[in-house]
Amino acid sequence: MQKRVCLTSSCLLFLLSACGGSSSPAPGGDGVPDANVDVARDPFAPQPDTSEGLTNVSADLRALLENGALATACADYAAAPADRRKRLLCGKAMFFYEGFGTAGVPVPLADWLIANFPDDVGPGFGKLGMVPDPFSTKSYPLGLAPGAPIGSVGTLAFTCASCHFGKLPDGRYAVGAANHAYDYGRMNLMLTVVPAMAMPGANEAAHDPGALAAVKPLRDRMAANPGIQTSLITAMLPLISGGGASLPEFTAENESYYARWRSGTMDFFIQPLPFDDRVHTISKISSLWCLPTRSELTAAGIPSAMLSWTGGTTSLEHFLTGFVDLGGGKVADWPDARLAPLHDYIESLRAPAPAAAPADVSRGRAVFVVECQSCHGGPRGMGDRFYTYEEIGTDDAMKWWADGPDHDGQPCCGLRFLPGDTLTHALKSPRLVGMWAASRFLHNGSLDSLEQLLCLAPRPDVTVPAFGSRGHDFGCALPDDERTALVQYLRAH
Ligand code: HEC
Ligand code: HEC
Repeated sequence: MQKRVCLTSSCLLFLLSACGGSSSPAPGGDGVPDANVDVARDPFAPQPDTSEGLTNVSADLRALLENGALATACADYAAAPADRRKRLLCGKAMFFYEGFGTAGVPVPLADWLIANFPDDVGPGFGKLGMVPDPFSTKSYPLGLAPGAPIGSVGTLAFTCASCHFGKLPDGRYAVGAANHAYDYGRMNLMLTVVPAMAMPGANEAAHDPGALAAVKPLRDRMAANPGIQTSLITAMLPLISGGGASLPEFTAENESYYARWRSGTMDFFIQPLPFDDRVHTISKISSLWCLPTRSELTAAGIPSAMLSWTGGTTSLEHFLTGFVDLGGGKVADWPDARLAPLHDYIESLRAPAPAAAPADVSRGRAVFVVECQSCHGGPRGMGDRFYTYEEIGTDDAMKWWADGPDHDGQPCCGLRFLPGDTLTHALKSPRLVGMWAASRFLHNGSLDSLEQLLCLAPRPDVTVPAFGSRGHDFGCALPDDERTALVQYLRAH
């Protein structure tokens, strides 16, 4: 059932100040700010720095990794639990290296890919958009860390850093950046289709043609160097013979999805996760900058942090517990208190200011107030309610996210939602910070720039379900100079 939900009676808050005195009339609108816009409130007002001096943005990767201090950070914190700086350092160590006891990529497989495919995988999976860990002696990336073994074989589990850490367009690295360069779909095909095709008796017809094409350079290299194939078989023997584990494998249909995701986008409720909602929908990786704190939400009259694109996760605590659960970790081993350092660390992450000094953005700010702030007026531009796909016009494949295949309004396929978390069948209006550093836009990552979003540059015209690039054409009819001013404004914070 679709509802337009105003999350709060204090949506009324937005009615309080509609004087509009500080905004210039916007040609293209009617010149009068919407009645429900609080122009006095600047959604992008500077926030306090709560980072305790940690280096979360830097061109120097070792400095960003606190020059090796993360290795003992959680032990150091355990010895001094009242020390907030140590607590945040422990949270940072968790962000980069904690796999929550889940099993991940078999180590021999990762080693084999790194050693044999310099052009397509490369040291630290760098060719797939991951960042090599300067402290790894085995050329592993940041974002893959020791996980639970499968039988006698070690694994590398995914950590937050694989998707939420990356390089900014100006060359600096930033914790919390959405890693839109990360080719997660192709990486997973390298971990499944490539080994399957290297094994004796491999059957090409069992695989999706698009997936085979995506890993063709690796197969060509194996064909030219038979030793590469033999070394995989040798390396994988302990996995196949010991512990009864088999190589991860996807259905051909799921392979076809993995093959089509653009970098920085993915579906989660699909193999290899134990939950499959039978809904193919694509999520763009979000940045983790400036998540609203509980007190900010209270002050804005918004009762939920509205996390994830559907906005159904009410708090960061819930998100973290859900992450452990979805990844196959034991929730009982990870109570809020144990996750607290990670929670507090994430809350301390701020969007890095663009290196280039922002131009005067007062014009763009004025346009934003009139055209955008009614939906992007909460902390850092988040909205205060849910929006239906009909209202926004963007691709609606996500409408049935986690509610397939029966669409009965209840979380499907064994998913456990925490109290208060809901299926919304709708979208939240996202925070708009760090936009200057993003290279994917909209929930499914179908657009590449703010210029495309505001129709200053042609949009790719994609209508394939889940990939659709239409909708959210707010502002598109404004004069060019207004839209250019808006882009500058959005890139300034
Ligand atoms: C393999 C990639 C991947 C990994 C690993 C990952 N995330 Fe995410 N994260 C995503 C994607 C994609 C989204 C957007 C999903 C959605 O909203 O539907 C997201 C969304 C989020 C959000 C919601 C942000 C918002 O503004 O709504 C939070 C919070 C988050 N992730 C935290 C984490 C933390 C903490 C970790 C580590 C424990 C983590 N993620 C690991 C890909 C990942
Ligand atoms: C009716 C409410 C509404 C209005 C008006 C609105 N937005 Fe949005 N905005 C949303 C929603 C909801 C989304 C998420 C849509 C999606 O991803 O499918 C969004 C997404 C965005 C994004 C993409 C962010 C990202 O991380 O991909 C940007 C940028 C944005 N809006 C800017 C603007 C600007 C600029 C204006 C004014 C010209 C504006 N919006 C007007 C509701 C609105």
